Amino acid sequence: MNTDADRFDIHAADHMDRWVAQTDAMRRAGPVGWTDANGGYWVVMGYEAASLAAKDWQVFSALHDPTGADPRARGIGIPPYAFPLILSESDPPRQTRLRLLEIPFFHPSRIRAQIAVVQGHIDQCIDAMADKAEVDLFRDYAMPVVALTTMALVGIDIAHWRDYTLGMHHGASSLDFNLASDTDRVHAMLLELVRERRAAPRADIASALVAGEVEGQALRDEEALSMLSALVLGGFDTVASLITSGLLWLDQNREAHADLLSDDALLANAVHEFLRLWPPSLGGGRNVMLDTELGGQRLADGDRIFLSWAAANRDPDVFADPHAVRLDRANADQNLTFGAGPHRCLGMELGRLTGRLAIRSILECYPSYRIRHDSVVRYRSKGFVAGWSAMPAVLS
Ligand code: HEM
Repeated sequence: MNTDADRFDIHAADHMDRWVAQTDAMRRAGPVGWTDANGGYWVVMGYEAASLAAKDWQVFSALHDPTGADPRARGIGIPPYAFPLILSESDPPRQTRLRLLEIPFFHPSRIRAQIAVVQGHIDQCIDAMADKAEVDLFRDYAMPVVALTTMALVGIDIAHWRDYTLGMHHGASSLDFNLASDTDRVHAMLLELVRERRAAPRADIASALVAGEVEGQALRDEEALSMLSALVLGGFDTVASLITSGLLWLDQNREAHADLLSDDALLANAVHEFLRLWPPSLGGGRNVMLDTELGGQRLADGDRIFLSWAAANRDPDVFADPHAVRLDRANADQNLTFGAGPHRCLGMELGRLTGRLAIRSILECYPSYRIRHDSVVRYRSKGFVAGWSAMPAVLS
């Protein structure tokens, strides 16, 4: 067995420092490799194998059955999540029906119509940083921008944005937060929102969920809560990660600024490229529902796989010179950072738009920003989500 594969572990403390070299080494033996971590699972690193498996939901199921009636149905978490995500952890046709409740709010035309609103949130955060000698681009900028944007869309009062951001309310060090208790706190507020919208609906996602019916039945409070939780907890960190990863690279590649500011299509492509190289969501799990073959490996009924969007994005058969940032890469938008198949990210357009506008505004308003690279801190204890929890910077 490959020793790099033995050590591949998405929860290892040094995973973020090692996954690129590890998956490059593992991929040399084939697009699908084995790791013994968390009871053992297959790591899908090839672009084609990852796309195929993500689309073939009948063989590679996302279903989570917490009752254990089908022991294979362990959802997308490795290890399984304690709180099942009813949309991400169901299969078509039920998943399609659940998704239909939210789809109208994420239609590209509707997201484009939000540009002024998103830019308004960005301008508010840009102005708030103006008098500070030093700022934190995660805490003072990326996180408030995405919290305000997502909460407005979902239908949550944006005045309370700090309460909804995990760890943000604990003061200076976001490394100290307790994920379980913070999640419970956000869930309690979301449950309150669900009950309020049942009593007095508005034109927002929360109201659409409580009014929605799936297979002839209204969603229960806990089901609406699960859908809302995925939007809030899934939408915040991911977009904040995109903004901060982009700004980090741009701080060290200043010669690119002028071109990106004068060419919006190039900036949009740069966002694809940042997402390809530094995917905020590194991958997701699936459950093998019958004996099958994937990427030359024989997989057994009951096995688990980890679809590594991150490794697939660096597959040299698809992306030439895969570890390099090429702002004008022709197929940068083919990255798998938003997944593929029935579960492809609903917030994709919103995430890309917010990322592009937020990065552009820093380049425009604070062109000489400088990040203190020795004080930048990565997320810890967030499983599949990769990003930065502190990014101190001087703006001028
Ligand atoms: C850069 C930002 C984002 C990234 C990289 C990202 C990534 C992903 C990925 C990889 C999946 C698929 C997971 C799987 O197949 O197992 C997903 C699903 C999802 N995302 Fe995002 N996401 C982002 C932003 C957002 C935002 C802003 C929202 C909403 C406010 C959102 C809402 C969702 C939802 C609802 C799903 C579940 C879709 C389904 O299962 O049918 N995402 N996201």
